[in-house]
Amino acid sequence: MRAVDLIQKKRDGKELTTEEISWLISNYAQGHVPDYQMSALAMAIYFQGMSVNEIRDLTMSMVKTGEEIDLSSLVGIKTDKHSTGGVGDKVTLILAPLVASFDVPVAKMSGRGLGHTGGTLDKLESIKGYQIDRSQEEFIQQVKDIGVSVIGQSDQLVKADKLLYALRDVTATVDIIPLIASSVMSKKIAAGADSILLDVTVGDGAFMKNEADAEVLSRTMVDLGKEVGRKTVAVMTNMSQPLGRAVGNRLEVLEALDIMKGQGREDVTHFICELAQIMLELAGREESLETVREHLVNGQALKKFEEMVAYQGGDLEDLYRPSQAAFITEVRAEQEGYITALPALEFGLIAMRLGAGRAVKTDQLDYEAGLVFEKKVGDYVNVGDLVLTIYSNRVVEETVLQDCQKNITIGSEQKIPKEILKVIT
Ligand code: URA
Repeated sequence: MRAVDLIQKKRDGKELTTEEISWLISNYAQGHVPDYQMSALAMAIYFQGMSVNEIRDLTMSMVKTGEEIDLSSLVGIKTDKHSTGGVGDKVTLILAPLVASFDVPVAKMSGRGLGHTGGTLDKLESIKGYQIDRSQEEFIQQVKDIGVSVIGQSDQLVKADKLLYALRDVTATVDIIPLIASSVMSKKIAAGADSILLDVTVGDGAFMKNEADAEVLSRTMVDLGKEVGRKTVAVMTNMSQPLGRAVGNRLEVLEALDIMKGQGREDVTHFICELAQIMLELAGREESLETVREHLVNGQALKKFEEMVAYQGGDLEDLYRPSQAAFITEVRAEQEGYITALPALEFGLIAMRLGAGRAVKTDQLDYEAGLVFEKKVGDYVNVGDLVLTIYSNRVVEETVLQDCQKNITIGSEQKIPKEILKVIT
């Protein structure tokens, strides 16, 4: 086989066979197919799409380019969760210990943030001492001992995705359903859990800008999971404004602690309880929302979280330390009315400029930097009310303040956003 013939076949809108896809992916992972040919193929897929069979073959070929985690020594139905990315998304920090507090094992590998989106690993690394690198044996032993672990994805897992994702990032081929579905599901399948909760974000801060596309992506991934015997549910969630109050690594950890103390915003608290209920159901546990909320606010989830942090070397005193950002700047409402928009993408980019996110993979993060919202979409403000606080270790430029003001839209009609848009089973 020759890569050029397969690129041409896809370019001309024809379907690639199982053997052709398998040949391409395994040769790419071994360095025999160069990046420039894979880039051309990604762009051909971008314009021509892929059939259901092609997406399945691509996903399974990618799984085979690395090791697969064997969680069979853990007792019970193992659950995993993945988000397609967002701004202020601290869900895993709360959901993993919350589900584990019901004695359902959670063995989760997470990723880093890039661009306007944050990553769970960066948030956890803002806790002094927290170790994200664990061998497979240590990872499994931890879940046996305390029921939960959140670590970095092993370098040995789905090698093709690492290479392909980096390539897609610089060739404008990230936001395409077949490539997102195969990237996410290859990692989830290789990570070994029996059941998978997919948080498919929708809105200007997400890859999927509208509900119709998000639904196609959700169905594609749910079908892929089912085909390989993993119970999979996709929850389409609103990412038109940042999730919860905080955007930025240390600030999001602090918000997660507040939520686990029962002191979080009601919208995000309720949202996380709904996700936990679905994840528990995937593990065969019927729990009422009231019971889930009880575990969240009465300290059981927090206790699990602290256990996880301590087990992975994190300093429990440092965990509760407030942000040490040198400059704290308030942004206040310039008119009266209901907040009608706080675009997630724009505020994610502002947080990135403050140092909370990376423009390129090699950027150093400032864990203390970010934004904390006092008001969200649907809240009423009077002139002069505090809308958000900027935490920064750099002098806050006038343009950052202007961009914050410009992106706070205030109107006369109250719009209360829904957090969960649809559940695809
Ligand atoms: N998240 C992933 O893991 N892969 C993608 O392609 C997009 C989001």
